[in-house]
Amino acid sequence: VAVDHPANPAAGDEDRPIGYGRLQRKEDPRFVRGKGHYVDDIVLPGMLHGAILRSPVAHARLVSIDTAAALAHPGVVAVITGKDLLGLNLAWAPTLSADVQAVLVTDKVRFQGQEVAFVVAEDRYAARDALELIEVEYDVLPAVIDARQALAPDAPVVRDEIEGRTDNHIFDWEAGDAAETDAVFASADVIVSQEIVYPRSHPAPMETCGAVADFEPIDGTLTLYETSQAPHAHRTLFAIVAGIPEHKIRIVSPDIGGGFGNKVGIYPGYILAVVGSIVTGKPVKWVEDRSENLMSTSFARDYIMQGEIAATKEGKILAVRTNVLADHGAFNATAQPTKYPAGFFHIFTGSYDLQAAHCTVTGVYTNKAPGGVAYACSFRVTEAVYLVERLVDILAHKLEMDPAELRLKNFIKPEQFPYLNKTGWEYDSGNYERAMRLSMEIAGYDELRREQKEKRERGELMGIGISFFTETVGAGPRKHMDIVGLGMADGAELRIHPTGKAVVRISVQSQGQGHETTFAQIVAEEIGIPPEDIEVVHGDTDQTPFGLGTYGSRSTPVSGGAVALVARKVREKAKFIAAAMLETRPEDLEWEKGRWFVKGDPSVGKTIAEIAMGAHGTVTLPEGIDGNLDAEVTYDPPNLTFPFGAYICVVDVDPGTGHVKVRRFIAVDDCGTRINPMIIEGQVHGGLTDGVGMALMQIIEFDEAGNNLGGSFMDYLIPTAMEVPNWETGFTVTPSPHHPIGAKGIGESATVGSPPAIVNAIVDALSPLGVTHIDMPCTPARVWEAMQGRARPP
Ligand code: CDP
Repeated sequence: VAVDHPANPAAGDEDRPIGYGRLQRKEDPRFVRGKGHYVDDIVLPGMLHGAILRSPVAHARLVSIDTAAALAHPGVVAVITGKDLLGLNLAWAPTLSADVQAVLVTDKVRFQGQEVAFVVAEDRYAARDALELIEVEYDVLPAVIDARQALAPDAPVVRDEIEGRTDNHIFDWEAGDAAETDAVFASADVIVSQEIVYPRSHPAPMETCGAVADFEPIDGTLTLYETSQAPHAHRTLFAIVAGIPEHKIRIVSPDIGGGFGNKVGIYPGYILAVVGSIVTGKPVKWVEDRSENLMSTSFARDYIMQGEIAATKEGKILAVRTNVLADHGAFNATAQPTKYPAGFFHIFTGSYDLQAAHCTVTGVYTNKAPGGVAYACSFRVTEAVYLVERLVDILAHKLEMDPAELRLKNFIKPEQFPYLNKTGWEYDSGNYERAMRLSMEIAGYDELRREQKEKRERGELMGIGISFFTETVGAGPRKHMDIVGLGMADGAELRIHPTGKAVVRISVQSQGQGHETTFAQIVAEEIGIPPEDIEVVHGDTDQTPFGLGTYGSRSTPVSGGAVALVARKVREKAKFIAAAMLETRPEDLEWEKGRWFVKGDPSVGKTIAEIAMGAHGTVTLPEGIDGNLDAEVTYDPPNLTFPFGAYICVVDVDPGTGHVKVRRFIAVDDCGTRINPMIIEGQVHGGLTDGVGMALMQIIEFDEAGNNLGGSFMDYLIPTAMEVPNWETGFTVTPSPHHPIGAKGIGESATVGSPPAIVNAIVDALSPLGVTHIDMPCTPARVWEAMQGRARPP
């Protein structure tokens, strides 16, 4: 049960959602009836099944592979090894970060779970059984697992196949001004420092990754059904990697059971399904199991951040600086815009008006799975927000100031927007104090502090944690942002059929966010036909215009903009057709939602449906106007959008066991103009739950040999209704000045904003014991350990 606050005085008078507001989701009738259609539901005539043999060790030379017994197993059609792929020039594939990744091992295994061989069989069981018959000899090598050790001179070299490479260094990147920042730090009254680790986690969508590849040898076409958040970008990459002409490739991403960044990359399994289909001449299905997904198919975070914040003794924050060690695993396969190897980490400056800021990020290889995906986050925003929000709390503790008061004192003020931050990003709009105060009001902040004081006197460990985040979502514009050379823009096509029913085709791909509803609502708002008369088509490259896809909360900021503009284009065209039908001039017409009418004579006009029929009918149309009511656009956003939020978390820590109970969580979000408040709440609830998982339960850990200790849901814990409180949500509305309808993204805000609020609350609860920091996940064992720190001799 959630408490939303629709009658929200602080939201100002812009808080009306557009058009149809809390419209029930158009996609739900099929989902609630179990009629969703996922990749694993696809069955093609003659389809074969693939399974991947994975390495049991993290680092080893491959001595030999014997596939004879596997090939002889009943039902097995083919066994493919790295050697076979070398012959096809497919043993290595380019990653999204200008590196290459082994599709199947040829020389050396570089992480536990790496792909070693691919069996294609008549059914899944035969394929799985045959994996056990493949004999592989490994010459095991020492592994490098800790990023801090990766740059040591004697560290094992992970990528020794790259000529001349003698270390594990990938890149150095920096933002901000080092000299200016050092100068501000040199004259500051107060400096606090902390090493802050954002541990390796995994998006763990409910549906794992998978593909069904159908290569038709006669005409050379490839139809690939796959779990993809970006079907168009995948098609271009498949054309480049596999050498199949792009017009012969069709990618279909049907219903997707959650993506959260896990389905942005192209994994070896997808490529192997395609190779399997080419080799056997039959469709091949490959769907990974849960352990494969957790162990090999990308990861998130894994940032070791050394952070510092400088301030005056009165609590004016002056500067932030940080050095980050980024563990990218065995191949640099992170998915983010090319120019930004550390994603949008620039936003570590947070929501504060700083004098200076500087960061460096060093990427290293280790013997761990590759990926570095933006798990429900806009390319490292989560890590950045966590860093700055922990530092601000540590500063508040040092200054003995209330953390809410410290934040309120330092926020960028409404009149400072658009605000250019110290790493060169222009925040579009914001009213931070209003959101913070609303969140404090919903929480009853002063009363909570009184309660805490009383409890502390009784020895009870109650904590109140705040986080205030600014996100940066909606990548492009294309001049600054691309993925492997593809500019980050999105297309939309709108067609109004003669009877006034519409179809809008979009280039982004929903994984559960409700695009079929909200994008219909945008069209409904712009041209005045009801959402139920508008079909939203997505997820099929043959059916939709080109665009870069859904991740980093970019659908509404980019594709939402495209949809609003294409609807306006149709509306404008409709004016000319209406003028022809009414035998008047276009400039004599005026628009009201759903119809053009004659200025000064509202009774004379034509509805969109009448105009659609007119467009396809017999009316003589003006010069240059085609006989349809269709349009298409590609929207190149002028800037990112900057949603923000004020979160307050209340925890109780059991002094005996270290168990943390999240008792209350108040989330006030501002995503600009709201399209569907019910969907927004759902997005926020999901993200907050993610945050509880990351803050309290989740880590993909490894032992020294590189064994993955988080390879199943027995070890990698997923939060359930048992671990989360009744969310209390609220909102303010500060429209984006540059987005066609003023909307910003919301999908990832809560995942970004909630972990620091929870950890800040835990540290606040433990502060009487002298605890000033604790690294996630705050499991009972870790919390208990931190509590014992007080007993240790100085
Ligand atoms: O890219 P992704 O769809 O994951 O994220 P998003 O653009 O933040 O949108 C998530 C869902 O919330 C979509 O259905 C949006 O249309 C909806 N939304 C909304 O109703 N109003 C907003 N201002 C932002 C998103």
